[in-house]
Amino acid sequence: MALHQGSLAILENNVGISDAVLLDPMTEDVFIQNLKQRYQHNQIYTYIGTVVVSVNPYKTTNLYTPSIIEEYRSRNIYELPPHIYAITDEAYRSMRDRHLDQCIIISGESGAGKTEASKVIMQYVAEVSGKGENIDTVKEQLLQSNPVLEAFGNAKTNKNDNSSRFGKYMDIEFDFKGDPIGGVITNYLLEKSRVAVQLPGERNFHIFYQLLQGAKLSTLESLKLTREIEDYNVLRCEGNADVATMNDQENFDTVMHGMEVIGFSSEEKTSLFQLIASILKLGNIEFSHRGNDDGTDGCDLSNTAALDDTAALLGCPSADLSVALTQRTVEVRGEKVKRDLSVNDGMYARDALCKAVYSRMFSWLVARINDSIKVTSGMRTEVMGVLDIYGFEVFEQNSFEQFIINYCNEKLQQIFIELTLKEEQEEYIKEGIEWLHIEYFNNAVICDLIEKSNIGILALLDEECLRPGNPTDLTFLEKLNHACQNHLHYENKALKKCQNDKTLAHGTFRLKHYAGNVTYKVDGFLDKNNDLLFRHLSQAMYQCKHCLMKGLFPEGNPSQKSLKRPATAGSQFKISVTELMKNLLSKNPNYIRCIKPNGSKSANDFDENLVRHQVRYLGLMENVRVKRAGYAFRQIYLQFLYRYKMLAGPTWPRWAGKPKEGVKILLEAQKVPEDEYAFGKTKLFIRNPKTLFDMEEKRRQHMHVLATSIQSVYKGWKQKTLYVLMRKSQIIISARFRGYWGQKVYKKTKQATLVLQCFARGWKARALLKKLKREKLEIESANVIRKFYLGWKVRNEYQPKFRRIAGPKISRFFVIALRKKYLLDLKTKLPSLSPINDEWPDCPKRFQSASDQLKVMYHAWRCRKYRRKFSEAEKYKMKEKLMASELFKDKKEGYARTVPQPFRGDYQNLLANAKWKKLLSQKPEDNHIVFADVVQKVHRANGKSVEQLLVMSSQNLIVIEHHTMMVKYRIPVSHISAMSVSPHTDKIIVFHIQKHENGDGLSKKGDFVCVCEHTIELVSKTSLLIKNLTDRLPEVHIAPMFKAQFGKSEVQLSFKNGLTENVPGGVKIVRKKHTMDILYNSPTQQTSSGS
Ligand SMILES: Nc1ncnc2c1ncn2[C@@H]1O[C@H](COP(=O)(O)OP(=O)(O)OP(=O)(O)O)[C@@H](O)[C@H]1O
Ligand SMILES: [Mg+2]
Repeated sequence: MALHQGSLAILENNVGISDAVLLDPMTEDVFIQNLKQRYQHNQIYTYIGTVVVSVNPYKTTNLYTPSIIEEYRSRNIYELPPHIYAITDEAYRSMRDRHLDQCIIISGESGAGKTEASKVIMQYVAEVSGKGENIDTVKEQLLQSNPVLEAFGNAKTNKNDNSSRFGKYMDIEFDFKGDPIGGVITNYLLEKSRVAVQLPGERNFHIFYQLLQGAKLSTLESLKLTREIEDYNVLRCEGNADVATMNDQENFDTVMHGMEVIGFSSEEKTSLFQLIASILKLGNIEFSHRGNDDGTDGCDLSNTAALDDTAALLGCPSADLSVALTQRTVEVRGEKVKRDLSVNDGMYARDALCKAVYSRMFSWLVARINDSIKVTSGMRTEVMGVLDIYGFEVFEQNSFEQFIINYCNEKLQQIFIELTLKEEQEEYIKEGIEWLHIEYFNNAVICDLIEKSNIGILALLDEECLRPGNPTDLTFLEKLNHACQNHLHYENKALKKCQNDKTLAHGTFRLKHYAGNVTYKVDGFLDKNNDLLFRHLSQAMYQCKHCLMKGLFPEGNPSQKSLKRPATAGSQFKISVTELMKNLLSKNPNYIRCIKPNGSKSANDFDENLVRHQVRYLGLMENVRVKRAGYAFRQIYLQFLYRYKMLAGPTWPRWAGKPKEGVKILLEAQKVPEDEYAFGKTKLFIRNPKTLFDMEEKRRQHMHVLATSIQSVYKGWKQKTLYVLMRKSQIIISARFRGYWGQKVYKKTKQATLVLQCFARGWKARALLKKLKREKLEIESANVIRKFYLGWKVRNEYQPKFRRIAGPKISRFFVIALRKKYLLDLKTKLPSLSPINDEWPDCPKRFQSASDQLKVMYHAWRCRKYRRKFSEAEKYKMKEKLMASELFKDKKEGYARTVPQPFRGDYQNLLANAKWKKLLSQKPEDNHIVFADVVQKVHRANGKSVEQLLVMSSQNLIVIEHHTMMVKYRIPVSHISAMSVSPHTDKIIVFHIQKHENGDGLSKKGDFVCVCEHTIELVSKTSLLIKNLTDRLPEVHIAPMFKAQFGKSEVQLSFKNGLTENVPGGVKIVRKKHTMDILYNSPTQQTSSGS
């Protein structure tokens, strides 16, 4: 509930009276003096109820700092000194919390501070509403729309250096949380005539100067512009370019920044500046007179450079633009004819074009800003509208624009009257209060004079514009005089009542506006109202390549056939103002009434007359009077009761009954005279401010008493709370401590008990153990004793029998048991099955002979087993090896080395030899080869040796020419009677051949001698072969000296160690007559050993 706690606080520390309703006495002078007094102390805001009266300070004040914004945030309107922030906050909160759309109507004459006030409102809303990335962007865009629109829509006038030349109504839209999410700007009729001409001392729109002063040189060059303002006709006006309060350069940067924030692309910015530049250039085009042959006037363009630049900027051929400016197309009997324009017409066309381009560009700009700030979410929005429209203005020369502006201000005044004076009075009636109507000037009569259909000035103007024939501004004036001659607020020289009025010039009329008399010059009224641009100009603009032009001049589209006349400027404006009024009436209004303190724009200068004039026409006194008439102050019962309830016993501290009853008791208790107040249906009305002051004073005094008692109660409560807290803490601490202590004691006791328990259990266990041990010992002892006793008893009983029978039996039994045990043990200890393993387990002495026999048996058994494993071939090989052992073991040096080497037999791999196979085909009996190797055959005659292949088949000993494979000898094995070898390392074999009378050559030649690498193998194999064939074993002589039969002679072979040279066969043989010495080399004396 929004209760006015602390309301009337503004009465303290305040200069003058901050709410004019409370002024006493209530006169115009006192009201103005109050404003002045406050103004001189920088208190520029004063309330009339909830209406804020703002006096322009014309200087920077510290009224808008962030801390002041914080002060006003969420505070009720009467809690703090008057401020725009206070009513903005009230409006914002009632929009956010009660969902009432709001509008803030700012009115006042030109230069009174409306635009500044609207910025203050936006700044406040931006500060107090929510924060967040998106919200801040929206806020920034809304705020930045101001400098951009001001640059394009404001200009210096003689009344105001930053005068708004367009009307602006901005709806700020909020979401349900009160965060701004977008907005819509509506603009009203821009004063475009300023683009072409300005009054002395005034300027064109700011943007022209800002662009020339602020843009970089390169930008200006690209726009074909120079910095010099003097270079442009539309800017050249008596001493006005510099405005002390404006820095065009800085403002240009601000505008550029604003455009950036709003989201203008660089192409859009360039397009805008191109249009500005083209207007500047267009304004420089001049015309010179040309007389045509047909006697009509024509004109030529005298400076083509400006024309070319304009054409280049707009993107059209210079020639087309030139034609558009110097000729016009007229339809004569359905035919289009080109007519030359006179110099005046040309200038008119040029200026019209400049104005049209600028005003349409401005509308595009507003639409573009709206595009950026519009709400896209589609959610329901709360709206706060801010109306900042051009103020009422009176110049020396007032034209159509001033007429329109002032008409708009009349309408706003109407709204004010409607909603404040009228509504206020209606409230009393609604609340059932007796009410005496207060008179005020209702300007509805002037509004009617201007806007009434058919007979209003606007209607007459339209009528004159559309009338066939030759209507002029003066014919319009005549019409006016005729229609309005009896109207109290219309004056004209032609009327009787004004004939002596010298201030009324020819061609003018005067309206007695609510804000003062304004004399309008009718010159240009028709033209401006028609607002027509030659169609050929629109078409030329439509043809331009500049990207904005087609959108700005849609009617220039040649395919658009309809030539319907557009609505006049006046009627368009009337429609939009009517819509605006409807919009404002649909919202909860809040007012800011701006007052201009002086006409010189200077600070601290309070021109009482000027202010009085404004106070009068703004109807402020009526406003105060109505507010105060019966009742200066009113408040809802509950709020009043809440504020003053301490002044009566029954209402303090709480009143349980109806608020109205409570208020009654309160007032009676204070002895307020009955005529000082009235009870409405929902509100209490107080007539005299003094009554309220008294109540306030008593409240203040009572507050001290209350403060003391509150203080004492509070202190008591605080101490009690502290005590209770301390007690609670103490209880908690002691409980904790006791718990802790108990725990500690318990742990100790538990520990001790455990120790005792352990000791007791140990002692008990040991005692038990001791007892059990003793019992066991006793049992064991008893058993031993019993056994001994039983043994003794048995022995006594059986001893005689035992010696005779049992002795031998037992001994036999033991012997058998021992044998059995020995044999069973032996079974487990038997050595391996290898025949060469010589191990045998030890045995008790008594079984030694049995053990030896068993050893022999075991060896024989395992040898048999070993032998059985061999195949026949292997067995034969073993036989050969056995033969070698029998022949050579311990008899020939080097035998031991041959034992582990297997007898390969065919060392030459004859079976694979093709020649051998061929030989075999002749002698198939030789197919089983026992031995084959290359040997050194020793020549019997001289002892020299030659390499030959020696083959021993199962039948023959064959000597073959090694290389040719020619058989030299073939000796049947059975013819070999004996073989001789030395016991040394040499490898000589002598085969002793039996002599046969008719034997072959070999038998005649005698014994065969050769050196063979495998002596032992050859001899052993030959022996075994002979045995197999003849069943007799040949003799094998192993001796260092033996005899051989060479042919018919017998030769003694003797072997000697000591050969030093390297000779084939490892022996050197020296043949003498009956001896053959064989020198061999035996470097190490080897002892023969073998298995
Ligand atoms: N509250 C203020 N504090 C300081 N200066 C102010 C304040 N209000 C107005 N001014 C000064 O007065 C000048 C004119 O104010 P502003 O432009 O708001 O007038 P306006 O009522 O909008 O006039 P117009 O109808 O011509 O647009 C401002 O440029 C500024 O210098
Ligand atoms: Mg303004």
